[in-house]
Amino acid sequence: MKKPKISVLGIGYVGLCTAVGFASKGYTVIASTHDAEKAAKINKGIPPFHEPNLQKLLEEAVQSGRLTCLTNQTKKAVLETDLTFNAVGTPSMPDGGADLQFIEASSREIGQALCKKSTYHVIVIKSTVVPGTTRDLVKPIVEKVSKKKCGSDFGLCMNPEFLRQGSAFEDTIHTDRIVIGEYDKKSGDVLYNLYKDFYDKDLPPTIRTSLSTAELIKYASNSLLATKISYINTIANICGKIPGADVKTVAVAMGLDKRIGPLFLNAGLGYGGSCFPKDVKALIAHSKKLGYRLELLESVENVNKTQPLKAVEFCKELIGNLKGKHVAILGLAFKADTDDMREARAIPIINELLKEGASVTAYDPVAMSIAKTIFKNKIRYAQSAIECLKNADCCILVTEWDEFKKLKPADFINNMKQPALVDGRRIYNPEEFSQKMKFTAIGLGH
Ligand SMILES: NC(=O)c1ccc[n+]([C@@H]2O[C@H](COP(=O)([O-])OP(=O)(O)OC[C@H]3O[C@@H](n4cnc5c(N)ncnc54)[C@H](O)[C@@H]3O)[C@@H](O)[C@H]2O)c1
Repeated sequence: MKKPKISVLGIGYVGLCTAVGFASKGYTVIASTHDAEKAAKINKGIPPFHEPNLQKLLEEAVQSGRLTCLTNQTKKAVLETDLTFNAVGTPSMPDGGADLQFIEASSREIGQALCKKSTYHVIVIKSTVVPGTTRDLVKPIVEKVSKKKCGSDFGLCMNPEFLRQGSAFEDTIHTDRIVIGEYDKKSGDVLYNLYKDFYDKDLPPTIRTSLSTAELIKYASNSLLATKISYINTIANICGKIPGADVKTVAVAMGLDKRIGPLFLNAGLGYGGSCFPKDVKALIAHSKKLGYRLELLESVENVNKTQPLKAVEFCKELIGNLKGKHVAILGLAFKADTDDMREARAIPIINELLKEGASVTAYDPVAMSIAKTIFKNKIRYAQSAIECLKNADCCILVTEWDEFKKLKPADFINNMKQPALVDGRRIYNPEEFSQKMKFTAIGLGH
């Protein structure tokens, strides 16, 4: 089978990993963005964000000539390829609904290209979009602008992405399942055959379904994962009130039950990032429009809103009034192995500390430059974990980076003004730490 040529619109985490993934398997990929700086980086083999293992594969893809990134040339990218993955962003609007302006704009650009194309082309929506978007927004825009007919002149699929930042490339090429929402069988066959060729005998379980079902599968999956996190955090908060209880052991025992499973049961300061918060909000808002109130997810969201502030409460329990105190924050990114600070838990924690009159010094292995654009000169920035701890009255561990797991009680005792630690991610051994210093952790009953 001749390999189809692929174009990718939107070259963020999803778009870039998709592009590099297909290029790594020998496909020719043309990416398109409006951001010239980003395109220049990609064409030099430099990922525009921190993502483990991506740099080498991107370099190889670019050097082999299989991946190129164009700026403001969506038309060229679409005309020179057979299939387009659309992976543009779908951020939150103030009311929580999904902002579909980038999907609308990119659909128009695809339509303008298809206007000039005489061969069949398949459009694949990879962005997370609320149910109905592909059929009721993308299809009419492309048909109107291109003056072509969906089904006969071009195909349309919705193919949600399930990658996790921090292991994004690995997840892209070793996914647990593929979901193909298809406008018609012809469109779905093209995408199915592409994945069959890509994975060969390792093709993961593949679900072929309607466009709307595929769209909902993504929201239903992310909302359940967010629910698991808020659920274990509420159990953690109960544990905190029961002497001798420890949420870590509760979670391990729960996770051994095959009906529950061990993943997403790490109690902490709540979920952040560019997906869970916005997807939970979007499903709540969409459901409201449909006349159904999603009370369960409203609670999931509320738990997640208050959970980071637990860290500040704990800090006050350890050292009292925070006015004039100096707090060290270890970890700023929304999770380890990424520099993404969208909806990072560090943001409400730091804002609350400042409101309480504390001064803050922060350190993160990769998110410092992004953090500086958020907090500007309101906080101090350290160049290492140890420098961050210097003369602090209390430390809050916010992100579970491996390098923080290596810190010993002596590192805190020898550097802080008074050693006091709030473990917001349960990475330290409570017995070892609480014997040597003031120590408290999420989900630990005293
Ligand atoms: N990040 C994740 O972990 C993840 C996982 C699964 C699904 N998703 C979903 O995938 C989509 C993309 O997410 P992301 O994290 O990669 O987003 P991102 O914000 O990192 O990147 C989106 C990119 O799209 C670009 N863009 C906007 N309009 C464009 C246009 N008309 N043409 C070309 N480029 C355009 C933006 O400049 C931006 O670089 C979202 O819907 C998201 O919910 C994200």
